[in-house]
Amino acid sequence: MNRHLQPWQIRADDFPADGFTSDQLEFLLSYAVLAPSTHNSQPWLFRINAMDAELVADRRRALRVVDPYDRELTVSCGAALFNVRVAMEYLGHQYQVELLPDPADPNLLARVHLGLSGETSGDDVLLFHAITQRHTNRQPFRPEPLPTEVLAEIEQSAGREGVGCVVITAEADRAAVAELVMAADRLQWSDARFREEMARWVRTQPAVAADGLTTHDLGIKDWLSFAGPLWIRTFDRGGGHAAHDRDIAMHSPALAVLWTAEETPRAWLQAGQALQSVLLHARTEEVWASFLNQPIEVPDLRARLAELAGISGHPQILLRLGYGEPAAASPRLSLRERLIRHPGGHA
Ligand SMILES: Cc1cc2nc3c(=O)[nH]c(=O)nc-3n(C[C@H](O)[C@H](O)[C@H](O)COP(=O)(O)O)c2cc1C
Repeated sequence: MNRHLQPWQIRADDFPADGFTSDQLEFLLSYAVLAPSTHNSQPWLFRINAMDAELVADRRRALRVVDPYDRELTVSCGAALFNVRVAMEYLGHQYQVELLPDPADPNLLARVHLGLSGETSGDDVLLFHAITQRHTNRQPFRPEPLPTEVLAEIEQSAGREGVGCVVITAEADRAAVAELVMAADRLQWSDARFREEMARWVRTQPAVAADGLTTHDLGIKDWLSFAGPLWIRTFDRGGGHAAHDRDIAMHSPALAVLWTAEETPRAWLQAGQALQSVLLHARTEEVWASFLNQPIEVPDLRARLAELAGISGHPQILLRLGYGEPAAASPRLSLRERLIRHPGGHA
């Protein structure tokens, strides 16, 4: 087995309930690295202090072409933060989270203070178990509609994080969104800089990869995978991607747009927490999701998506949702590889 799949094997029973706060924080952060991130770039770092832990943006892992303002990078970090919150709640700890606590340091995205014992609710238990059951599922979903209560719960889970969520189920509306996805694919793949960046994150040896995407994730045939990065750099495959993405968007029973009123790092962190809340709540109902974020990455198409979805703010994430066959886990750098060491050598 790829050793970089081991972070998924974490067991809650190993929580050091009687240990030092710093050891408890380290354990809790092991759930953060299981969050989704653009191109599986895992753009997060963590610093563990005696009584709190800090989430720091790793901008060396930024995607300059597709995400020039680090918006998706920040959303990914927000998703990681949500996992830590869920783990703290499940393990019965109160906590306090400060977003962007130091105006002089924009890389310090959040500080988490671990508090005294708290209560664990039934919802906490379900969400916690969903962390290791969540994977991006790029396969086609079954056409059966999602129950209204499930869609309502998905909308509310974003709302509780201060983030809007518009669910789109009508066929004509899904078709219109699918056209935007297709247009975005064509534009992005025709850009040599986009292809170059994508090629840098494609791993030709998935059995040993710690991050990045496989050619399979990108829908490239297995027999071509050895040549993946070269193939991606050289050819504009936009037409093929566009048609595939339009089809899976059209044939998913529901699409969801997460949106924020503001376009600031704080709003992006909220969007990331809402995203992970939506994905985990979806999993508790056996619902899978994958991302169709391309139109949000192209400014003109982002505006058209907002109009189409009737949003008076900024679309941050476009998901498709549905029932389907299980998806596999993707690799992760371990928490130890993502820790910022204190100068003295502590943690
Ligand atoms: C902000 C954000 C944007 C993403 N955009 C896309 C996307 O447009 N297309 C896609 O296939 N996956 C997208 N993903 C999913 C990542 O590729 C995925 O999370 C990563 O490969 C790790 O895999 P996992 O989610 O199965 O753990 C996105 C993830 C995040 C957090």
